[in-house]
This record gives sequence, C-alpha cells and structure tokens, in this order.
Amino acid sequence: MNKIFPLIDRISNSSLLARTVSCWEEAVKRGGWTKVDLHKIPFTLLAAEYKPSIVTHTNGVAEAAVAMAEVLKRVYGDHIEIDMDILISGAILHDVGKVLEYAEVKGKYKKSASGKLVRHPVSGTALAAEMGLPTEVQHIIATHSYEGDKTPRTVESVLVHHADFTNFEALGGEL
Ligand SMILES: [Fe+2]
Repeated sequence: MNKIFPLIDRISNSSLLARTVSCWEEAVKRGGWTKVDLHKIPFTLLAAEYKPSIVTHTNGVAEAAVAMAEVLKRVYGDHIEIDMDILISGAILHDVGKVLEYAEVKGKYKKSASGKLVRHPVSGTALAAEMGLPTEVQHIIATHSYEGDKTPRTVESVLVHHADFTNFEALGGEL
C-alpha cells in the first residue's frame, strides 16, 4: 500500500501508519478485489469526462490537502494548528469505503448490493473504527462528502473535503 499511496510514509506515528495500511488492505479483501484492481476502479460512478482510478484520485486529494496545509501553516503560523499525521491518514482513507460501495459486473463498475444502501463515507468510517483508526480520522472519512455538510468539520476534514471536491469538479465531475 505504501507504494500505491506514497504519502502514507509521511505519517510519523508508526501505529497510525500501520493501521492506515491495514484498513486499505482489509477493505480490498472484503470488497473481493486485489491491489492491482485499485488501479482500474474508477473513483466515481457519477458523470465525469475523465475518471481517474481510485488510486490516482486518492493521491491527488492527499497531495492537494497536504499542499494546502503547508500554505496555511506558512501564512498563518501559530494561528492554525494542523495535525499532519491525521490529515494524511484521513486523506488516504477518505474513499476507502468505495471498494465496498462498488462492484464489477461483467467488466462494468456498479454499486454493490451493500453500496446501494450504505455509501462509502459510512462504510469507510465503520471499517476505520473496526481497524482502530482514531476518531479524528474516522471524522474525516465520515464528513469528507456532502454527508458532512451539516457537521462542524475539523480543520483536517475541511482540507480533505475541499481537496476532494477540487479533484472532482475541476475534472468536470458533476454531483
Ligand atoms: Fe474522494
């Protein structure tokens, strides 16, 4: 997973790093996929001209969130507190539930039976809780999408949320 999502190695807390990796591995297993599949699964089933894989999307979101965090820290200094470990773990895991939400049927990607009932922010949060990820990371997964619009987001979740929508709408994605 560290090769697929290179920013994982910037998580300084070794336990958080290990749990972030395990959570992705467990999701892939439960979804009935292989790691190779991750490079093919589209990051969205919604209309979009170009649909990068879930790997490309996740790395784009994580890099954008980290870049924004670095700008904020440089510009606002001590006025802003950002936990980079939590930010990176949450960014890498924000869409982990999509491998449970999606299924491949005869070469086409569709919603899985469970995905029709439970969207990825919910299934991803449940899995992260089960895998021992801290509440702060669960919060990012739970609130990164429109499900979180009525919830006060932490700074780390605000960054992942906007990085996510930037990586979707800027590529022509429509909700
Ligand atoms: Fe996303």
